[in-house]
Amino acid sequence: MTSKTPIDLPQPVTTGGLPLMDALRARTSTRGFNTREVPAQELSNLLWAAFGLSRPHRGTGIDAPGCHTAPAAHNWQEMDLYVATPAALYLFEPESHRLDPVLASDIRAYTAHAVQPFVLDAPLILIYVADLARMDDASEWDKEVFPWADTSFMSENVYLYCASAGLATVVRALFDRAALSEAMQLRPSQLVTFSQPVGYPR
Ligand SMILES: Cc1cc2nc3c(=O)[nH]c(=O)nc-3n(C[C@H](O)[C@H](O)[C@H](O)COP(=O)(O)O)c2cc1C
Repeated sequence: MTSKTPIDLPQPVTTGGLPLMDALRARTSTRGFNTREVPAQELSNLLWAAFGLSRPHRGTGIDAPGCHTAPAAHNWQEMDLYVATPAALYLFEPESHRLDPVLASDIRAYTAHAVQPFVLDAPLILIYVADLARMDDASEWDKEVFPWADTSFMSENVYLYCASAGLATVVRALFDRAALSEAMQLRPSQLVTFSQPVGYPR
C-alpha cells in the first residue's frame, strides 16, 4: 500500500464463505495478531461485509430504502469507516468501494491503550466514526445512543467475516478518544465510537 494514492479495491466476493451458523459458532475476540499484511481481496471482502453497499444507494432518511450490509437508525447513515494501516489512514468509500487517503501517517498507536499493546501488531485497524451533523432532526438522546448502536452492527459483521475467513479481530472501546480524534484531524461534529484491529492470528 502507498500512503498518498487512493486504493481501488478489487470487486468484493459477496457469495459463499462459512455457513452462517458455523460463523456464529466460530466468532470470537482474539487478542494476538500476526503482523502479516491482509491481501487486497481479503480487505475488499472485509470492508464490504462491514459496511459495503448491498443495494443501490437511493438516499438517506427514513423515507429512503437502506443500502448497506449493516442497518442504520432512521437511515441517517451517519457512520463512516476509517482504516488505519502502517502506511496511512484511509476513509472507506462504499459507493466506489475504494479507500481514500486521509493522512499519510501511522496513527494506529492512538487506538492502543497502555494495557493492550497487542493492537499494534495488527496490520489493519478499523475505526468507526459517526458524523452527528448528518443526523437531521435527531434529539440529543438519538445522538448519544444511535451512533453506538449502528457501530455495533458493523462490528458484528466484521466479527462474522473474520470468523469465516480465518482472521483475528476484537472490538475495542478502550482508548483515548480525544487523542485519537485529534490525530485523525476529525471535525467537531465527528465522534469516534469503537476501533477494531483485524489481522491473522498470532
Ligand atoms: C462494547 C464493547 C467494547 C469492548 N472493548 C474491548 C476492549 O477495549 N478491549 C478488549 O480487549 N476487548 C474489548 N471487548 C471485547 C470483549 O471483552 C469480548 O467481546 C468479551 O470478552 C467476550 O468474548 P467474545 O467476543 O470472544 O465472545 C469489547 C466488547 C464490546 C461489546
